Amino acid sequence: MSDLGAILDRIGAEMAAAPDRGRVADYIPELARISDRHFAMAVCTADGQTFITGEADTPFSIQSVSKVFTLAIALGRLGDQLWTRVGREPSGLAFNSMVQLEYERGIPRNPFINAGALVVTDAILAGHKPRELLGEILRFLREAAGEDDIHINKAVAASEQATGHRNLALAHFMAAHGNLLHAPDLTCGTYFHQCAIEMSARQLALAGRFLIGAPDLPRMLAPGRTRRINALMMTCGHYDGSGEFAYRVGLPGKSGVGGGILVIAPGRASIAVWSPGLNAQGNSQLGTLAVERLARATGWSVF
Ligand code: DON
Repeated sequence: MSDLGAILDRIGAEMAAAPDRGRVADYIPELARISDRHFAMAVCTADGQTFITGEADTPFSIQSVSKVFTLAIALGRLGDQLWTRVGREPSGLAFNSMVQLEYERGIPRNPFINAGALVVTDAILAGHKPRELLGEILRFLREAAGEDDIHINKAVAASEQATGHRNLALAHFMAAHGNLLHAPDLTCGTYFHQCAIEMSARQLALAGRFLIGAPDLPRMLAPGRTRRINALMMTCGHYDGSGEFAYRVGLPGKSGVGGGILVIAPGRASIAVWSPGLNAQGNSQLGTLAVERLARATGWSVF
């Protein structure tokens, strides 16, 4: 699409002028220091072009967007066996909610809420030391993006480790139900480091290309599995805001509390957007608005 550059320029200018930027996450102290003024967007198209606007080369904390990549590793390694430990239904509750886990006997609703992501990390930790698994996650990202400069921010991981009581509680609760293979602090420690990976919007969009489902792009997983990941991103990728995101944008997406969102336009493009201010559901406020405008301008909604 030849006018994609112009569309991104316009969206970038509109977002710079947006008055309500949401609120930066403060429950992980190290993330609270980030300014809400940042904005970046990158679009990698199926034919190999990349378009950007804003600070597309500034690294940010990918947080829950990392759950897409650990799910890909888990499906590649364990296949459908994973689904004995975690479901595939939207939760309709906050990303860190505990209440459903008690009713549903320690089986999280889906792999994108925190409890489900902890199970996924726990499953792929089997037979590895945390350091080895984190190395594998970074290798996956670097290969998918075709870029080596992707790292973990240890200060962010430590900051979450010091305040991650809810995640530890979720992990202990699942251990009590026999749905955790490792000690809760080991699984949580690995998960905190995976969430603390930093990438730029350009790198994230590049890393998402394997989910587009088009030829001549990095193939990290069988096509049947990438389709399933897209389905889960559409139904569960924004937690209790997933319905609203599907309504407004019409594309599979996965958000993180660092303000990043990875969005896939199947057959067309991988899109990454970053704006640290969040809405009430913990999803990037301007990030959502920006991809809503992109989807409208391009007609990329799947509906
Ligand atoms: O576990 C947490 O709370 C964070 N490391 C990640 C949460 C997150 O990104 C939720 N997404 N919007």
